[in-house]
Amino acid sequence: MPDLLVPLYSLPAPPPLPDGLVVRPALPPEHHVVTAFVGKHFSPGWVSECTVALAARPARLLVAIEAGELAGFACHDVTARGFFGPTGVDPARQGRGIGRHLLLRALDALKADGFAYAVIGAAGPVEFYVKTCGAIEIPNSTPGIYRGLLR
Ligand SMILES: CC(C)(COP(=O)(O)OP(=O)(O)OC[C@H]1O[C@@H](n2cnc3c(N)ncnc32)[C@H](O)[C@@H]1OP(=O)(O)O)[C@@H](O)C(=O)NCCC(=O)NCCS
Repeated sequence: MPDLLVPLYSLPAPPPLPDGLVVRPALPPEHHVVTAFVGKHFSPGWVSECTVALAARPARLLVAIEAGELAGFACHDVTARGFFGPTGVDPARQGRGIGRHLLLRALDALKADGFAYAVIGAAGPVEFYVKTCGAIEIPNSTPGIYRGLLR
């Protein structure tokens, strides 16, 4: 899986939020909810990255909340400086624009922190990033910083 580069100076404006959806940084009392969600739907490695993201104040982890439930999350500036991810949306809520919102909001946070470009590390759904934020593949970036990762 390659890394992708995203120019932050030409980000598209996010479309309107789906009705009833709130996107904001996670709060400390929510940490156990977020890590349980990530462990249930995704992977132990992502739980580790989220734990680091949640230790910052404000958290470097945005949550999407719908009807009082966690619908998705996105981390920024965690795996390495200027990196986006990991991110994930509740499988039952995918395909409704939530992932795009989380992505564009997190990229905006990186831009506000002074980065001109963001890196999406080991991007799985490359087409999603090409379509939603103009990402381009970085040549020779597999496995990048993940070489020899302990699992
Ligand atoms: C990738 C993910 C976060 C996208 O979230 P989502 O809420 O389903 O995506 P959205 O509804 O916001 O999609 C926005 C657009 O991207 C497209 N898209 C979504 N997932 C895609 C994928 N895997 N491949 C290609 N296009 C995709 C959608 O069709 C939509 O296109 P449209 O504007 O033409 O309608 C979600 O599918 C997910 O959690 N996947 C599993 C975890 C994962 O792979 N995370 C990324 C790790 S790098």
